Amino acid sequence: MNPFNFFLDTKIDFGSGSLNHVIGYIKEFGASVVLLVLDRNVLKLGLVDELLETLSKEQVNYHIYDNIDPNPRLIHVDIGTTQFKEHGCNLVVAIGGGSTIDVAKGICVVAKNGGKCFDYLDGRKEKKRAIYDSIPLIAVPTTAGTGSEVTMYSVILDNDLVKDSITSTHIYPSVAVIDPLLMKKIPRETVIYTGLDAFAHALEAYTSNISNALCDVFSLEALRLIFEWLPIAVNENTQQSKEKMAFASTLAGVAMSHQAANLPHALGCALGANYDLSHGLAVASLILPMVKYNSSICAQEFEDIVNYISPTKQRNRADSAKQLTVMIEELFKNVGFDYKIGKYPSEEILSKMVHDASIHGCLLCNKRIPSEQDIKDMFLSIL
Ligand SMILES: [Fe+2]
Repeated sequence: MNPFNFFLDTKIDFGSGSLNHVIGYIKEFGASVVLLVLDRNVLKLGLVDELLETLSKEQVNYHIYDNIDPNPRLIHVDIGTTQFKEHGCNLVVAIGGGSTIDVAKGICVVAKNGGKCFDYLDGRKEKKRAIYDSIPLIAVPTTAGTGSEVTMYSVILDNDLVKDSITSTHIYPSVAVIDPLLMKKIPRETVIYTGLDAFAHALEAYTSNISNALCDVFSLEALRLIFEWLPIAVNENTQQSKEKMAFASTLAGVAMSHQAANLPHALGCALGANYDLSHGLAVASLILPMVKYNSSICAQEFEDIVNYISPTKQRNRADSAKQLTVMIEELFKNVGFDYKIGKYPSEEILSKMVHDASIHGCLLCNKRIPSEQDIKDMFLSIL
């Protein structure tokens, strides 16, 4: 077995109703003023009405920041950091999807270490500013998919519309409060896209070239849960399905944080940034092209996955990619996901997407490195 490391600097508080524990954590941190970083829909859907009442009752001062786009940019972090400082905050609570939590992570880094969000982007390489510590963050996901509440990444769009990241063990949230009850009012489309994002995290972690036997267990179980429960979460919205998907997303997020994403995220980030698509939709569109492209190099991993999901059937390793493809196509059909984007870009945008994908760091974790022509062909197969 290959050696591996495992480090997760986040307390996970998982369970229906765990949102009620947030007030306790705020008191534990001794926060005088809390910056609440919220997805706009969280306020609209009334998901935090009770929490806001509790904060007022307990005389906890807070300031709400909800200026966040689905593909957040540097400016969203910088404005949030200014507000954090202006209001004298000393704790951040983020409630929303991955974009909201990613912006909150950025605010925690910049508020603690100075400068602007741009200074910390991985793309700056040796010019990247050092991260020594971070403001404590309580992350409360409202979707089952991005896993941002348990990862050491914050994904931010730079000024050239390229998705970049801030990566540091210091930006693991202090606490991840994962309350499946919050996920019941989320729109059907978001459930599909975020659920398939979690699927991609688990698949990419398991096929990554960074081996980690502990996280492989998480990935396989996450995939099994998503095959079984995502269609129910999408079509029936039962409480049990929300809990299973929240758990699968947590497992997949932890695995992805250690083994990194690979081809679907490298290409999906370029696609999503240039088409302004939601992260999950863009990434999910690239899952089948990845299985096809990696069919020979990942035959063993694909065989492991199909055996884990359906252990009783006879398998042939040479056909494992085909078998997995059939299973994924069935999952897409059951949740009503069409991986075709249906919009052809200009040659200029297509070239930019190919270039952006070819320099994306996740590509280095794919066992087979695609040429620019390979990347173009994969994009063309889903347009
Ligand atoms: Fe993702």
